[in-house]
Amino acid sequence: MQREADFPALLERLRPECQRIIVQYEQKRSALLPIMHLFQGYEGYCSADAMNAAAEMLDLTPAEVESTVSFYTLLYRRPVGKYMLQICRGLACSINGAEDMMAYFREKLDVGQLETTDDGVFSYEEVECLAACDRASCMQVNLDFVYSLTPQMVDDMLAAMRAGTYSTAPMAQIEAPGRTWAISQESDISRGKKSPGAVGVPLPNNAGGVGDRSGIIMLDHILARDVEFFTKTSERAVVDARQVVEVREEEGSHAGH
Ligand code: FES
Repeated sequence: MQREADFPALLERLRPECQRIIVQYEQKRSALLPIMHLFQGYEGYCSADAMNAAAEMLDLTPAEVESTVSFYTLLYRRPVGKYMLQICRGLACSINGAEDMMAYFREKLDVGQLETTDDGVFSYEEVECLAACDRASCMQVNLDFVYSLTPQMVDDMLAAMRAGTYSTAPMAQIEAPGRTWAISQESDISRGKKSPGAVGVPLPNNAGGVGDRSGIIMLDHILARDVEFFTKTSERAVVDARQVVEVREEEGSHAGH
């Protein structure tokens, strides 16, 4: 897709749809995410022009818009590949082979976390739980789910994407992407001074950092039984250590009767 000759032309084309979205909400600002998805659908990412236009339509500041856009891994502030490959590295997926799948993708595509291949076709990101833990290990391709990954599936998927026959459509790409779409804090575009993303995080085991192994580490703890889980979900709400003691004492006293 070619970039519109000028952004105002795209804005005028999409303005009626934006208005239709805005009137669905009690507060204008609630329309921010769907509007940014709309622009991203046409531009392939949330351009500074699009963020400024959304700010103006929703009576927000550009910094408010950018702070929201930068929060979500579903929105990109710089051009990305035609296929955004987001691999889950959560606990259930880690138990079910996500580490091997991530290594396979990295090797096959010669990319690292938050990187785009030189041909601009694939962007790669390891993300937190995608809420499909029952079908781990899983991923999203341009936000479409792919479940129970195997190396063969990865091979088939990449081949089909390269051949243009993959079931999920490629994203719009109005500009050639760079090696990464992460934004450094010093960058002009990062007016809100948001996090630079995971690139260059010095501690590899930092949650969200390069080579994040939090799922595997948690699994090690579980296997070593040096963490304890309560049986009922509601009991996880008891997080304060003092309260835990109180609850246990109470349980003990009940058990004694
Ligand atoms: S851990 Fe991967 S979907 Fe939940």
